[in-house]
Amino acid sequence: MSQRVVDQSSILHRRQLSRRDFLTYMWLAAAGLLAAEGGIGTVASLWPRVQAGGFGGKIRAGDVDDFPLGSLTYFKEGRFYISHVEAGLLAFYRKCTHLGCVVPWRPDERSEDNLAPQGRFNCPCHSSIFDRYGLVHAGPAPRPLDIFPITIDGGLVIVDTGTIIQRAGFKESQVAKV
Ligand code: FES
Repeated sequence: MSQRVVDQSSILHRRQLSRRDFLTYMWLAAAGLLAAEGGIGTVASLWPRVQAGGFGGKIRAGDVDDFPLGSLTYFKEGRFYISHVEAGLLAFYRKCTHLGCVVPWRPDERSEDNLAPQGRFNCPCHSSIFDRYGLVHAGPAPRPLDIFPITIDGGLVIVDTGTIIQRAGFKESQVAKV
């Protein structure tokens, strides 16, 4: 009569291996999920943020035709103005270059530029005055209104409110040609 000999230690070893394998797979799966999540987050953070409103990213302001020559358009959510001067479009940060008050556009005030008879920025805090180019005409403001880069893509005007540009005066290189 043959006798079957079962090696108990071998079965135990196999069980331990499979348990160990299971734990290894779990760790690998968890690490893979974390890596994927990190990768997706990194890609998402690198993706350009083009949105309809909101300060700090790239904002779709509208079509080129929405901004006729001499017009001033306020984007409250984006915290900027778009001014259409002869050379093209400028996007001004609404923050006064003196102490940072919000500078309102006053369409009924006498103009300080030659583009139109009326309209200028009057800072309510210490009376600085800026024209359609953002240039200072009165008050303590030390420099023109800061600007944001504009790109025009297929007729769509996009303002990058994540990049603030300080300037000493007006140059045609500051505008987006239309
Ligand atoms: S904050 Fe605008 S003039 Fe002082």
